[in-house]
Amino acid sequence: MNSTQIDYDSVAEIYDLYVAADYDIPFFLEETAHVEGPVLELTAGTGRLSLALIQAGVPLTCVDASRGMLDVLSRKLRERGLNAEVLCADICELELPTRYQLALLPFQAFMEITGEARQRQALASVLACLAPGGRFICTMHNPAVRRAQVDGTLRLVGRFAIPDGSLVVSGFEQGGHPLVKRLQFFEFFNSDGSLRSKQLLPMEFEFVERDQFEAMALEAGFQVRALYGNYDRASFDAGRSPVMIWVLQRADAQPYSRSKPVCVSSQRGAPQAAPDCFATFSRTRGAISAMKRSN
Ligand SMILES: C[S@@+](CC[C@H](N)C(=O)[O-])C[C@H]1O[C@@H](n2cnc3c(N)ncnc32)[C@H](O)[C@@H]1O
Repeated sequence: MNSTQIDYDSVAEIYDLYVAADYDIPFFLEETAHVEGPVLELTAGTGRLSLALIQAGVPLTCVDASRGMLDVLSRKLRERGLNAEVLCADICELELPTRYQLALLPFQAFMEITGEARQRQALASVLACLAPGGRFICTMHNPAVRRAQVDGTLRLVGRFAIPDGSLVVSGFEQGGHPLVKRLQFFEFFNSDGSLRSKQLLPMEFEFVERDQFEAMALEAGFQVRALYGNYDRASFDAGRSPVMIWVLQRADAQPYSRSKPVCVSSQRGAPQAAPDCFATFSRTRGAISAMKRSN
């Protein structure tokens, strides 16, 4: 078990089987395209996003608290002949010698940092890793939309092919004010349909409300440069946006010219939660196709 709430080491070798989202990659490719020097990717995991960035020529420092997830990432880098700095560390205690122009925390994973004290520590640590004027893109779900899934209902994440059989992933969630407790089930079946083995992953993550995050970010020493509600850069709509994508900047910097702060606007269509490793299968499909349509 690592220092975080979720034992990712125990699922590191199967993570890529059931998490194959790519909806956020164009956004991060754009954000990293013209950055000077290396980019800091926090919660890099097995490299779902990292590999795309490295292949595009972005020099990357990949940080994660799970040794197991990073072992998979390192293996994938070796197999592809790619290079990146890979560091096992808890964001809340991060101390790095480099000062970055850009830090990323993708896949809504800020929510895995539970408790206000640790969230504040994380923001302070990231700020300290940034050069003057450096930006921090921090992602999380919009509680107003994502909370609808926290209802105790068992949902299928999906059925995935494995050698000589299949893996079925499902889960249910309870709580949500602000802590969510999720139980995720992994059932491995042989090709004749018989059950081979089962695995359980208890997960905890926390909803962070918009005003609460903004206050913590400002108190940590950031300015808010933009708040997007989706990876197509739609403005954040409190009632409908699936995610909050915060573009923060060290407060000691000149204003960031790329985008003005974005606060509120209307969005067409029904609210949809963004997919992640907790997402249900049907919701993942729906959200991804909605995002593709809106691009
Ligand atoms: C849902 S996975 C996402 C992995 C990868 N970014 C992706 O998109 O597939 C969340 C990752 O965050 C890492 N993590 C959670 N809390 C962390 C913390 N406090 N410090 C460092 N890594 C953390 C976990 O170990 C896990 O690999």
